[in-house]
Amino acid sequence: MGFLKFKNSYRFKKAKFYTWLLKKDLGSIGKNSVIYPPFHSGNISEVNIGSDCSINAGSWIECIKKYGDVEYDDVRIDIGDSTYIGHRAHIIACSNIQIGKNVVFADGVYVTDNLHGFKDIHKPVFAQPLVCPGTVIIEDEVWLGESVCVLPNVTIGKHSVIGSNSVVTKSIPAYSIAVGSPAKVIKSYNFDTQQWEQV
Ligand SMILES: CC(C)(COP(=O)(O)OP(=O)(O)OC[C@H]1O[C@@H](n2cnc3c(N)ncnc32)[C@H](O)[C@@H]1OP(=O)(O)O)[C@@H](O)C(=O)NCCC(=O)NCCS
Repeated sequence: MGFLKFKNSYRFKKAKFYTWLLKKDLGSIGKNSVIYPPFHSGNISEVNIGSDCSINAGSWIECIKKYGDVEYDDVRIDIGDSTYIGHRAHIIACSNIQIGKNVVFADGVYVTDNLHGFKDIHKPVFAQPLVCPGTVIIEDEVWLGESVCVLPNVTIGKHSVIGSNSVVTKSIPAYSIAVGSPAKVIKSYNFDTQQWEQV
């Protein structure tokens, strides 16, 4: 066995053990799902991961239950079956983030349903409560390119593609390709011609 094969096999086995150690802290995790270390979180008891998922190294996934004096009820992150989360993903909820099945996150993707309060200019940002504008839904088969940011209160429809480095500030319909900051739809799938067409 070459060194690379040995290294990758060792890495996988270590991740399986690491995932097993995390199991009690998680809301739930399905069969064959793996979380690769290092993994960062303060609370994952409302994080539910389906089966056959990979959460790659350097990710930070967290349900915020309390920030300062404010408690956040009904916080939840769901990740559907066969979803691939790339390295250094940051997924952080104080209300609800739903990620569907067969979703692909490239590396460095950020998904949030909240933002720091900043409106009071007499208090530092960290001293202000978080603002939770609304749920994020990423439907089945979506592909988020490298370093995509998904901001609060948006839905990305089924089988849509978000180009690398895009910032999603508004909902994207199903079967669309969107790019840029803010992300705008440039193509959508035409079911009559069975082609992706420019809009
Ligand atoms: C969006 C993407 C899938 C390309 O889709 P496509 O339909 O082939 O798009 P095209 O190459 O025809 O480009 C269409 C237009 O969008 C622009 N565009 C493409 N990707 C873009 C991006 N990420 N950001 C901004 N503009 C982009 C192109 O420059 C082109 O503009 P023009 O019409 O003014 O020339 C691809 O560009 C992309 O971003 N892929 C993600 C790659 C990645 O992150 N991989 C990680 C591995 S999991």
